[in-house]
Amino acid sequence: MKVTIVGAGNVGASCAEYIALKQIASKVVLLDIKEGFAEGKALDLSQTATTLGFNTSIIGVTNDYSATSDSNLVVITSGIPRKPGMTREELIGINAGIVKSVSENVLKHSPKAIIIVVSNPMDTMTYLAIKSLGLPKNRIIGMGGALDSSRFKTYLSLALNKPANDIQGMVIGGHGDTTMIPLTRIASYNGAPVSQYLNAEILEKVSADTMVGGATLTKLLGTSAWYAPGASVAYLVDSILNDHKRMIPSSVYLEGEYGLNDICIGVPCIIGANGIDSIVDVKLTSEEQNRLNESAEKVQAMNAALNDIL
Ligand code: LAC
Repeated sequence: MKVTIVGAGNVGASCAEYIALKQIASKVVLLDIKEGFAEGKALDLSQTATTLGFNTSIIGVTNDYSATSDSNLVVITSGIPRKPGMTREELIGINAGIVKSVSENVLKHSPKAIIIVVSNPMDTMTYLAIKSLGLPKNRIIGMGGALDSSRFKTYLSLALNKPANDIQGMVIGGHGDTTMIPLTRIASYNGAPVSQYLNAEILEKVSADTMVGGATLTKLLGTSAWYAPGASVAYLVDSILNDHKRMIPSSVYLEGEYGLNDICIGVPCIIGANGIDSIVDVKLTSEEQNRLNESAEKVQAMNAALNDIL
């Protein structure tokens, strides 16, 4: 299986690293516009193969889309990342043009590929890809929910002082500081509701920390995060290429599901060989549904900024 990652920056390179390390694909192509940059990252990563014991071939190219031909899956990380104090939404002006041209280029060379969009503001960039490529909606997936859920579970494990892998939980809604919705009501410690162990005030803090999880890291690092975003993309790639059919909250085009229409936003999805296999209907309380509606309104307001480009 062949995976192309467009953008060899921190997120793209981490993603390539995890895909190789876990041998999820036999071939990874890293593409970047910066002369020699993807080639350098690919060469450096390739030189870890013998020490880490993987056989995935990793090649890097400068803007040469022909090298990406017949990829099964394409990950789009291109665009500029956040600087401290910036919201994901502020990136739209620059990133929209980049994501549109990149997605058109990759599709020309890999007409059957499933596309994962990572560039921010992610829900709007996923919507842009859907609208400009005209592909069936199962083939375009926005990566945000996997990452936000992993941050949510990390903060829950810290609050509970229990191993992260004993925690279940998901974040739905937009991938933005004010649009994500950590579903604390159904989060669990091996099936036992976390509310049995954490009071409302602590749960509120876990939720708030999750929502600004990316911003916290941007402030600490001076640019946006990459390990968890890269790993979250690799998790999606694994579920697709190995047809695991895992339930992973992802940004997908909705046509009535969760009462929402003509929007890409995070909802729980079954992710398998066809990309989005199906959307899972998790029963929300009316308060949760109201929050999702509010989140959708904000994402839709952002999508309106695409009018000039679509
Ligand atoms: C983050 C970026 C990838 O949340 O959106 O870290």
